[in-house]
Amino acid sequence: MGRPHMEPLVDRDVEARSLGLPGWSSGITYRTMSMDPVNGACTQVVELAGGFEQEAGFSRSEWELFILDGSLTIDGETYTKDHYFFLPAGYRIGNISTRQGCRAIWFFNDHYPDWVKATDHCDAEVSTAEFISVNACDEVRWVVPSFFPQTEPGVFIKILRMEEASGAFTGLYIMVPGFWQDNVSYHDCMEESYHIWGESWMLQFGYLPTGGYFYRPPYIGHGPFQCEYGTYAIFRTDSWLVNHFNWNPFMNPEENRVRVLDKVKLRQPLLTDWTFLSKDEFVP
Ligand SMILES: [Fe+2]
Repeated sequence: MGRPHMEPLVDRDVEARSLGLPGWSSGITYRTMSMDPVNGACTQVVELAGGFEQEAGFSRSEWELFILDGSLTIDGETYTKDHYFFLPAGYRIGNISTRQGCRAIWFFNDHYPDWVKATDHCDAEVSTAEFISVNACDEVRWVVPSFFPQTEPGVFIKILRMEEASGAFTGLYIMVPGFWQDNVSYHDCMEESYHIWGESWMLQFGYLPTGGYFYRPPYIGHGPFQCEYGTYAIFRTDSWLVNHFNWNPFMNPEENRVRVLDKVKLRQPLLTDWTFLSKDEFVP
């Protein structure tokens, strides 16, 4: 089923609740920004109270964590603002604690936030090489995005993680003050964004301040677009991002999907034939 379209949403407008799921210590307050109603996969803005402690263990879900404020100590090492973790499903980490408190955004990509106390990874199948721990401020450089066709000049990104096979990625972006884009865009992938700081405006969905969020399934048109004072945001997709630009802000997702298919047929007819015909029917 997947997650529904959530846009626009602002974290402070979402009810804060205490996390009481099995395996978790008390002291976590969460705001759910989006959730798959079937399996509970979700994005949440969380606050861990000062003095919070969690025993070492793992989640059975793939888990991403980005520190917004405060600090988090894991296995004796302390991490601060802008630190990003990617934990494959079943990847065990040491004791978690925070002395002063920590505000973060986390993403449970496979199902609801679970926690299993453990002394080792879930099993030998856990892809430990995929684990990422990086301070996005100090250790990753801003680059000009290479998505084609390009957005207007004035956007820079930091890729924190990219899945090689699908092109799905998690990253940060900034838009400079005064950035604008006067066309409409949609993509073949889901895109998700949370404003760490800043604001933007879009024709279809209006103003999005600091704490603003969207979870946008494929083929939803968005734009024109502008940003008056600048934006710093965390961003995710579930496959490679292609900008399909056009000038009609009122096309629905099905119309957009058909339009992309027509474009692919025109530009890559052999690929289209190969995709839709069986192996026996295909004659190159
Ligand atoms: Fe987009």
